[in-house]
Amino acid sequence: MRCCSGKRGRQRWRSERPTGDLVTADLFADQTLLEEEFQPGAFLLRGFVTSSNSQLTAQLQVILAEASLRHMRTPGGFLMSVGMSNCGAHGWVTDRRGYRYDPQDPESGRPWPPMPAPWRDLARGAAARCGFAHFEPDACLINRYAPGARMSLHQDKNERDFTQPIVSVSIGLPAVFQFGGALRSDKALRVPLAHGDVVVWGGPARLRFHGVLPLKDGQHPVFGSQRINLTFRRVL
Ligand code: SIN
Ligand code: FE2
Repeated sequence: MRCCSGKRGRQRWRSERPTGDLVTADLFADQTLLEEEFQPGAFLLRGFVTSSNSQLTAQLQVILAEASLRHMRTPGGFLMSVGMSNCGAHGWVTDRRGYRYDPQDPESGRPWPPMPAPWRDLARGAAARCGFAHFEPDACLINRYAPGARMSLHQDKNERDFTQPIVSVSIGLPAVFQFGGALRSDKALRVPLAHGDVVVWGGPARLRFHGVLPLKDGQHPVFGSQRINLTFRRVL
């Protein structure tokens, strides 16, 4: 157990029924439980984001004005429901040629906008909190979910060094994060994520399948009818 020194409560995940019915974990009914290693190597830091909403909004505006959100196509030709952009030295892209990182935005031919220093510090801090010292992200994928948008189960495996964790930050509307096993067919835990929550996974969890269920409609007081996810990675 590498994380977490915060207050810990009783872990009360209910397993999913074999029918696959939605069974929501009631972990968060316990308000004292702010940090949890919900699977070996996978950590939830609830409300870890301390940047103000106006800072986040301004930072997002600067990046997205330079590299706008777009719906990319999977190698199989499927148009993704999530709008995507990137900041940092490398940006994750997909098209008919495959999934990969590109130092340039293929739409503009320019480098991706720089990663804001407070974002890098947030990702570093979250990783360190979970025992992953010296995480230096060189990529941040920005995912925008409108109601109904989803991300099917996948592994993050286009990075070079799997000893480096993934740090994922949730902004805006709540969502249900799925965290599965080493195989796509493995049963996935459903982790409710709210604005300001951070998930870190690495070590034995680094290549776990994960995804996001279709976003429920709603209205966040600042970010409106959307969820933004920032996923920090070390690519090279
Ligand atoms: C991802 O796996 O890239 C996105 C995860 C999320 O939106 O929470
Ligand atoms: Fe992912």
